[in-house]
This record gives sequence, C-alpha cells and structure tokens, in this order.
Amino acid sequence: METNSSQTQQPSIVAPRIVFTNHVPEAIDSMVEQLGNPPVYVLMDVNTQAFVMPLLQAQSSAVAKATAIITKAGDMNKNLEALSAIWKQLSDSNASRNSVLINVGGGLVSDLGGLAAATYKRGIKVINIPTTLLAAVDASVGGKTAINFNGIKNQIGVFNEPEAVIVSTMFFNTLPQQQLLSGYAELIKHGLLDSTETLDELLSFSVVYPRFNSEALMKVLEDSVMIKARYVRQDFTDRNLRHALNLGHTMAHAIEAYGMEVLSPEPHGYAVAWGLVLELILSQMELGLDDGIVKKLADYVLTNYGAFDIIPQIYDKLIDFMRNDKKNTSPDDINFTLLRRVGEPVIDCSVSSDRIKTAFDTYRTLMKLA
Ligand SMILES: NC(=O)c1ccc[n+]([C@@H]2O[C@H](COP(=O)([O-])OP(=O)(O)OC[C@H]3O[C@@H](n4cnc5c(N)ncnc54)[C@H](O)[C@@H]3O)[C@@H](O)[C@H]2O)c1
Ligand SMILES: [Zn+2]
Repeated sequence: METNSSQTQQPSIVAPRIVFTNHVPEAIDSMVEQLGNPPVYVLMDVNTQAFVMPLLQAQSSAVAKATAIITKAGDMNKNLEALSAIWKQLSDSNASRNSVLINVGGGLVSDLGGLAAATYKRGIKVINIPTTLLAAVDASVGGKTAINFNGIKNQIGVFNEPEAVIVSTMFFNTLPQQQLLSGYAELIKHGLLDSTETLDELLSFSVVYPRFNSEALMKVLEDSVMIKARYVRQDFTDRNLRHALNLGHTMAHAIEAYGMEVLSPEPHGYAVAWGLVLELILSQMELGLDDGIVKKLADYVLTNYGAFDIIPQIYDKLIDFMRNDKKNTSPDDINFTLLRRVGEPVIDCSVSSDRIKTAFDTYRTLMKLA
C-alpha cells in the first residue's frame, strides 16, 4: 500500500489510495476529476451536516454540485431502515453504476455508506472522508462495512475496499474530548502491534491537553493508519493474521456488553483502553511480555481514561460475555490475541477462566482499585 504525504499540496492518487492531507476539498476535487467527473452523492449524518459540510460545500466544487443524503446520527441508526433509505435515494435520483458515494462522517457513516455503495447496482465507487479520530484510524480503512441487525452489532456486511480514503485532522476540533480519547485508544493498539518506538511516541503525546497539535497528530495518525493497512493487506477477509487487530477487544467487548446490561454504556475506545491493559496482563502471564510495558500502559490509561471498576462480583459475568463471543471454539477457554513482545502479536491464544480471574486481580492492583 502506498500513501501520499501530508506535505503534498496537490494530492495525487496511488491505488489503493489513502491520502493524508489537510487540503481535503482540493483532494476531493482532484479525485473526482481523476474518476472522470462521475455523478457524486455525499452521505453525512446530521452532525457532520452541521459541522463539516459547510466548509466542504464552500470549498469543493464536486461537493457543491453533489446530491446530499442525510442519515440519523448514533449507532442505533446503523440499521436496515437507514440502509434502505440510502438505496431509495440513490434509486429515486437514478444514480448510475458509475456514480460515486462520498462518506463524510465517523464509523457509522463509512460502515453504512460502504454497505449501501457495495450493494447498490452491485457496487458503486466509494470515497471515505473520516471526520472522527476513530474512523480515521480504524473504521474508514480496511474495507469492512456493516449494519447492526437482530440486536447484534455488525451482523450484516461485506468486505469492500473504498476507492480512496482522505485522512485529515481538520475536522477534529469539533469532537468532544471523550471522542478524541476513544479514537486514540486504537492508535495505542496499533503502537503495541508495531514497535516500542511507536508506542513510546504515542504514550508521550497528549491528544487533548492542551489542544492537540494538529500537525503532530497527523504524523502519528499517518503511521497508525499504515500499521493497520499492513495487517489488512496480509489478510483482507480476516481469516487469521488480521485477528492481531483484535488486541484488547475480547476484554473490551465484554466490558461494553456489561455496560449495556447495567445501562451505563462505555465508549468503545475507553473499553479498548481497559481491554488493552487486561490483555497485556494476560500477555505477561501467558507469554512473558515485559511487565515494564504493562505498567507503563496501565499508568497511561489510568491517567487519561480512569479505571473501569472490575469488582470480583462481576468476574464471572464478564467471562460469560467473553465465552459467548463468536471467536471461541472451545466451551471452557477464551480466545485472545496476546503479545509476546511489542510488535509481536500471537493470535488464537486460549486462556482458562481461572487465569482470566488472576488477570482481573492484577488489573485491580495496577489500576489502584484494590
Ligand atoms: N468498519 C470497521 O472496520 C470499523 C472499525 C471500528 C469501528 N467501526 C464502527 O464505527 C462506529 C464508531 O465510529 P465513530 O466513533 O466514528 O462513531 P460515529 O460515526 O457514530 O461518530 C460519533 C459521533 O460523532 C459525531 N461526529 C462525527 N464527526 C464529527 C465532527 N467532526 N465533529 C463533531 N461531531 C462529529 C457523529 O455524528 C456521532 O454523533 C461503530 O458503528 C463501529 O461499529 C467500524
Ligand atoms: Zn475497536
């Protein structure tokens, strides 16, 4: 995978395309021109309509001329009804097979728009413009699209590479701090999958206090996106090596499921931050990961994300949520992606519930809960 640098004033396209630039309107116009000036549709949610679109409409001639499709914000609206409404608007306006859909938004918009575009007339082109840090570093790259269905997240979807992704930091100023931190947890995950240098750089960087330095964030973001892209390239349909990107997520999904059950939902990235601490503790126990790394991460997470209180009374509940995770093949053990060293993930590590409970105890100590 190749990239264009943020230094570039007039981005050119290298396929498959991930362009890093804070000249987004120019990048859109240049891409639409290179695609032969097809009819353009822009999908946004009500928040990106308010915060992002005025600038794009004023500065991109392709966006100014495009047909707008607006969808509701919030993950509960990543559903069949919203998908069907997008198909209907494309169909009512006679969108042809050579149309292009530009997704302007967070992961909701790229997941929903990606699926709509992959299926409308058996597939039209997609350009993703991520407007949240989480979407920039994760959701907009890698070709996974989905809607939630039958009460299950991301139950229906396809793999479909966008034509291009334009990654920038220019829209992040209107994101609440919690959203920025939530996205930043995924950068830390990529750092753990890459190298000690990348991890140290990320742990010494403040994404919120004082206001983040946009240029510095662009640099770490660019590195991080390319780490994800490297894993995706080796295993696009997520059969094996791409499982490395699940680091922290088995625990995170259990924390999120528990949060939903007790009606106190946790932001995904916060659950990932706590999940990373827990899975690094397991990595130390099972694979001998250096405990200095575990301590360093726990300190960073505690300072920036606080601690999710795993009281002993909910140990079994969390383990039950993990056991129900589709990734588990054995009824007793739970499957994790763990780390032998920073940059050396080991997929499909099976861990017993007793060992997981020991990890919960260590987490309580490290996160100053005990
Ligand atoms: N496809 C993948 O590989 C992948 C990976 C990770 C997450 N996801 C999916 O992504 C979604 C989560 O992504 P998200 O956190 O970006 O959620 P989101 O798209 O729901 O955005 C979060 C909130 O921020 C608002 N928003 C977006 N851009 C803004 C801006 N610039 N300023 C102010 N507000 C803005 C949105 O309207 C929304 O209210 C979930 O549906 C998740 O399943 C997909
Ligand atoms: Zn995640």
